[in-house]
Amino acid sequence: MSRIALILPAILLVAPVLAAQQTPAPQKTPSLAAIPADAAKQANPVKATPESIARARKWWGLDCAMCHGASGDGKGEVAKDMKLQVADFTNSDTLKDRTDGELFYIIKNGHQDMPPEGPRVKTEENWDLVNYVRSLAKKKADTEQKP
Ligand code: HEC
Repeated sequence: MSRIALILPAILLVAPVLAAQQTPAPQKTPSLAAIPADAAKQANPVKATPESIARARKWWGLDCAMCHGASGDGKGEVAKDMKLQVADFTNSDTLKDRTDGELFYIIKNGHQDMPPEGPRVKTEENWDLVNYVRSLAKKKADTEQKP
């Protein structure tokens, strides 16, 4: 048997393993400190209208509720399973120090254990989600004000 006949299958076997090793290990998404100042300062071009909130509700149910909970209380099933620390967005204190630009960046690029939304949503829909996240706290505040 010629040498090449032995070497070629060996290369074919090893090549995928080498390729897999070259792919970088999945990295943690950026921390809050990594948010560029420009991104943090960016104004929200989408008004928090009922239409915007309604558009975001669909994405919230598909991509966010499993961790953040349908109501935003941070008690989604996946968060429980993965033992993630997820803040309670129904508490109006949680996001009070975040700018809309920071929220946009976090949703787009992910944050620590949170996966990025990335290109799954359009830019406008990403802002809708910012509005939606804010609305979760407002709802609680509204109910709290009621006697
Ligand atoms: C795999 C679970 C998971 C999914 C899915 C997920 N998140 Fe998160 N999210 C987290 C975790 C964990 C954090 C970091 C802990 C925290 O701050 O609550 C976080 C943080 C955030 C923050 C920043 C909170 C802060 O304290 O500044 C926002 C805003 C946010 N998520 C919105 C969303 C939106 C909107 C979606 C859907 C598009 C989403 N998340 C999907 C787990 C998730």
